[in-house]
Amino acid sequence: MKQAFEPLVPSTFRVPNTNWFRAPEGFKSEEEFGIWAANRLEEAILFEGPETVAAFYVEPIQNSGGCITAHPAYFKRVREICDKYNVVLVADETITGYGRTGEMFGCQRYGIEPDMMITAKAITSGAQPLGALFMKDKFFEPFTQGTVTFPHGYTFAAHPVACAVALANLDIYDRERLVDNVRTNSPVFRKTLEKLKDLPIVGDVRGDGYFFAIELVSDKSNMQRLDADQRERILRGFLNPAMYKAGLYARADDRGDSVVQLAPPLTCGPAEFDQMEKILRPLLEEAWKKL
Ligand SMILES: Cc1ncc(COP(=O)(O)O)c(C=O)c1O
Repeated sequence: MKQAFEPLVPSTFRVPNTNWFRAPEGFKSEEEFGIWAANRLEEAILFEGPETVAAFYVEPIQNSGGCITAHPAYFKRVREICDKYNVVLVADETITGYGRTGEMFGCQRYGIEPDMMITAKAITSGAQPLGALFMKDKFFEPFTQGTVTFPHGYTFAAHPVACAVALANLDIYDRERLVDNVRTNSPVFRKTLEKLKDLPIVGDVRGDGYFFAIELVSDKSNMQRLDADQRERILRGFLNPAMYKAGLYARADDRGDSVVQLAPPLTCGPAEFDQMEKILRPLLEEAWKKL
């Protein structure tokens, strides 16, 4: 007889995200909410037993929940908790790394002090597959002696062509001052997308840098979420193909709440933001009628 599936780590404890739009009632500020959310991490570590917790991963802007930002106080408190329980703090900069937030790394933008930092995608602007892991000296130290190896190999690791592309790509970043471009124009991007808040289907516009989400709701008065049928029809059935057809490469997604996510190339500016708004407005109006 087959045995029932047992997860490797049988935990049921979930830490909350930092979505201010959907924060529980009663918080006076995003800072207060952020500290509350971080304190739940301490509870989780104690629940699991600190000796069993190796690491905590944060994204400077959380991707799959729909561009969820956090107040810097959240990251500060998380750092304190990780230090207290000897938990490694890992920043997942797969999306936010290399300029997307308006600093080279999201950690710089939000004052996060990670022990390790994962990066990928924009290190080559996607032209070659490459990832890079940064870590504090103390984690690398055992490998400097020539007596220890990290037994984790894969076929194309450290491929010289991908590395050369990354270096050339980062030269272009410097030459074209791409990170400055994001920092300068991000407020314009936000303002342009916020124009869409006059539409009944738009509940929230959130994000930072060149990474924003528009959260869709079926009733603004109570932030009513789209139900499963609406998500299927509106996000996958209508918006994704319609945006693509209209020339806007964006993603309607419901891994968290229902959002349209926008992560434009770092070369964009106000003219492209206007174009995005012009494409999205009639599509979101139509989506509302189809709800
Ligand atoms: C924040 C974040 N972490 C990790 C990943 C996974 O990266 P990979 O596909 O390189 O494993 C992604 C992919 O989109 C991501 O957005």
